[in-house]
Amino acid sequence: GAVRTPLIAGNWKMNLDHLQAVAFVQKLHWTLKDAKHEDGSVEVAVFPPFTDLRSVQTLLDADKIAFALGAQDLSTKDAGAYTGEISGAFLAKLDARYVIIGHSERREYHNESDDVIAAKVQAALRHGLTPVICVGETAEDLEKFGASAVPVGQLEKALEGVPADTEIVVAYEPVWAIGSGQAATPEQAQDVCAKLRGVIGAAMGEDAAARTRVLYGGSVKAANIASFMREPDVDGALVGGASLVVDEFASIIRFQK
Ligand code: G3P
Repeated sequence: GAVRTPLIAGNWKMNLDHLQAVAFVQKLHWTLKDAKHEDGSVEVAVFPPFTDLRSVQTLLDADKIAFALGAQDLSTKDAGAYTGEISGAFLAKLDARYVIIGHSERREYHNESDDVIAAKVQAALRHGLTPVICVGETAEDLEKFGASAVPVGQLEKALEGVPADTEIVVAYEPVWAIGSGQAATPEQAQDVCAKLRGVIGAAMGEDAAARTRVLYGGSVKAANIASFMREPDVDGALVGGASLVVDEFASIIRFQK
């Protein structure tokens, strides 16, 4: 949609230490000189591991690099005796704008329930962070319930109690498409993203539905980004593997519809 600035987001997962992160962001910045993100027609965001955030923030700030910064997770709590947890307050203090919540890898390997994910959305909002809420069905869900039932239910729960004027981002990531090299078709992505927009409308109102970016994620590459971006309800991409290769990620950012 024309009213929504496309968002190309790189989820690095557990890759690149803080020194590699700085080298990577510098290279990406130089590769992209004169690219669309400079004129604001595309927003670029990177999601490094926690231990990289301070170094990347310093670089973005010092070199006036127009990438937004995000974290891959946060605690449901704000402070206290929670060994190993990271508060949204710490992320906000590092100028993080976004935080990924409910990625399928957190749901699967850390048993994050819809309740925990909803609590993390509330934690992000308490600190002025924009949650990037990830939803998606497994291959088994797809067979049993079709593509949209599970992600629709996940999003309904994540949006409980989220006020109408809140900025959020939603990412539809079919679990079977993540890291598999087998992306959803643009038609499949459009169908589910449109339904998720309907969920946003029901929970937060039509204005929120019209302005909220809904991303597709799962084996996005330079070769398929344009086909997704042509779909009216796909407003960008959450990119894993291909966000770790400078030229590939730069080409994704430079997509032409
Ligand atoms: O969060 C992005 C991710 O899960 C997609 O990963 O490697 O299939 O682009 P990938």
